[in-house]
Amino acid sequence: MASEGLHEAADLLDEATVDHHRAMTSLCEELEAIDWYDQRVNATADASLAAVLAHNRDDEKEHAAMTLEWLRRHDPALDAQLRKFLFTTTEPITEVGSTDVGAGADVEGAPGSGNLGSLGIGSLKGVER
Ligand SMILES: [Fe+2]
Repeated sequence: MASEGLHEAADLLDEATVDHHRAMTSLCEELEAIDWYDQRVNATADASLAAVLAHNRDDEKEHAAMTLEWLRRHDPALDAQLRKFLFTTTEPITEVGSTDVGAGADVEGAPGSGNLGSLGIGSLKGVER
């Protein structure tokens, strides 16, 4: 059975693109599960049920983080954005890296570039910093 949600015929897509889609779909499902559990934790008046649901919710966060890490390792453009924004704490998020030359530029190796899995090192040649 084909993965649901493909926007192109599966026979036109390479294996890396389909696997990327699988991981993206899985990440969405994990995030949705976190939200569902969170609402149920909030809604129940039974403290012991809330504790179980909160435990399950937090397990979904581990699943989401693992899937995001897989995506990061296979998507150089996503890797670049995560490295730019994650774990910044002091400046407003909208201002993180706003002075970077080439911020937001296309990264070689991004899905759809036909070069999934490349580190995109070649695209940095000649870029002044
Ligand atoms: Fe999960």
